[in-house]
Amino acid sequence: MNVSKLFPLALSAAIGIASAQTAPTLLVDLDHREATSLDGDWHYIVDPYASGLYSFHRELKPNGYFQDLDSTRATTGPIEYDFAKSPTLKVPGDWNTQKDRLYYYEGPFWYERKFEAAPKPGTRVFFHIGAANYRAKLWVNGQHICDHEGGFTPFDCEVTSVLKSGQNSAVINVDNTRIGDGVPTLNTDWWNYGGLTRDVSLVTVPDTFIDDYELHLSRKDHKTIEGYVHLDHAAPGAGVHLAIPDLKISVDAKTDADGRAVFSFAPADLQTWSPETPKLYKLLIGSGSDTLSDEMGFRTVEVAGDEILLNGKPIFLHGICIHAEAPYRTGRAYSEQDVDTLLGWTKELGANFVRLAHYPHDERMTRAADRMGILVWSEIPTYWALHFDDPAVLAKAEQQLHEEQRRDRNKASVILWSVANETPNNPARTKFLTTLANRAREYDPTRLVTAALLVRNEGHQDTGDSHAKPTDPNVKVIDDPLGAALDVIGANEYIGWYEKTPEDAARTTWKIAYDKPVIMSEFGGDAKAGLHGGDHDRWTEEYQANIFRNQLIMLNKIPQLRGMSPWLLMDFRSPSRILPGIQDDFNRKGLIAPDGTKKEAFFILQKAYKDNAVGRPD
Ligand code: GCU
Repeated sequence: MNVSKLFPLALSAAIGIASAQTAPTLLVDLDHREATSLDGDWHYIVDPYASGLYSFHRELKPNGYFQDLDSTRATTGPIEYDFAKSPTLKVPGDWNTQKDRLYYYEGPFWYERKFEAAPKPGTRVFFHIGAANYRAKLWVNGQHICDHEGGFTPFDCEVTSVLKSGQNSAVINVDNTRIGDGVPTLNTDWWNYGGLTRDVSLVTVPDTFIDDYELHLSRKDHKTIEGYVHLDHAAPGAGVHLAIPDLKISVDAKTDADGRAVFSFAPADLQTWSPETPKLYKLLIGSGSDTLSDEMGFRTVEVAGDEILLNGKPIFLHGICIHAEAPYRTGRAYSEQDVDTLLGWTKELGANFVRLAHYPHDERMTRAADRMGILVWSEIPTYWALHFDDPAVLAKAEQQLHEEQRRDRNKASVILWSVANETPNNPARTKFLTTLANRAREYDPTRLVTAALLVRNEGHQDTGDSHAKPTDPNVKVIDDPLGAALDVIGANEYIGWYEKTPEDAARTTWKIAYDKPVIMSEFGGDAKAGLHGGDHDRWTEEYQANIFRNQLIMLNKIPQLRGMSPWLLMDFRSPSRILPGIQDDFNRKGLIAPDGTKKEAFFILQKAYKDNAVGRPD
């Protein structure tokens, strides 16, 4: 069978699979730039056999098998595949919850739309993708522009050279096939929502423009704001102006050979950012014909022994974990409404902290956390058993870490970078994650590095399986060697759910091998909202509530506990949660059901947070 016959002119016209023209970049503060939104209806073609990328002999020919088509056959016109005749779906959004037939779909998927453009001389245009799960290839006007791997971080690809005045076409292949050497790898306890899951837009900037900047409050004196502004395509000595009108700051600096202009200034009367006073200042940056604005808070975060200090004062993190599952409609969360609902419930809970699990969430989430005064634990999906001995996997994790940090390191709310969740304790993994932790610190020395570790029962060497018979059932031990590479220790435990009884938690004590702050980064149990019974009837609200009551007793006995983020705010979809009538594809450990119903445990935790009944009475 000659597959080239299957892929008609419409598609071949739209794309040529030469190797990508550019490597993706990431423009900082892009959501404050003027942009042409490409959100809305996109045509789609489901392509389970990746026939659009490979010849029928499964060759991904570098110049693309379309080049094999001799001119005659190339013009034989469209056959089965034609975007214009193909259905549409919404961008942003996962495809799984938009079309019933795509609910379980994992694989290659084509998006296409036309758009108008009017490129101006002396400007450059970038194609922005907020996130595409998992691998993406972009074509504009038939030119292969860029490829990207990683489902939860943004990327920007320059299209200046291919853009036309008038109508243009964009074709994006998104493939959410799970791969062993991926980040995440094959197995996750969340639904593998595929697609263009966040905003897509076109951004025009001057030839020389501000592509990156970083500002922070110095930990040394808690007074000086330091940082830099980077210009892309700037000659050394280019002038950069920075202003913070409310602080009467108006300063200038010149770029060095690398396009970096360094700033350091100590404003009088700076109001530091904190959950109680989430003060954001309008920031204006200008250079040549480019201007950029932002809203930034300034605060310091550091550790001192086993204390976490925010603006120099010890703090306790009353938190909750959140998955980017959309309330009510379900599917991948991305909208202002999704964010307002999830963080609104977080505030209602009395929490001052969220663990955004297990991947960077939409930028709207960290923007809102900045405004609402909610501290953030941000994480990349280095989750469970990655191929830790594969340098290519480390490179992928480093890339995602870099993209996550570059997007959010000017967000005051983000205080913790997490480099892992529940990874097996072995030397290759510890080496891999220690490298990642050091990278995180190198790129951003102003925040703390953490990870969610598995804990073990005393006497049980392997930190992996909590089902093994422990010598002393009521002693939990945190001595994972990865702890040495972290500033703050995260620990996940499920006493009362995956092991033991809820009451065993209250009897449990902890042995912690590190003199560092500890956050209980996960605990909890499943409950179907509205299902009632006794304290020991699994899946009922009473059972979940019983777990929480006993966990709170245990947590208050851990001297170096500096925070907690129970698992989790709202139920979320997961392929391994299939118990009919109870789970139905949802992990039910949420304190709130997707329809907004609050379970009994929500109110137990809310009371504990409102009464400051757990952790330090701040
Ligand atoms: C793990 C894991 C979560 C998972 C949870 C659960 O600890 O980190 O991703 O959803 O446990 O089992 O519910």
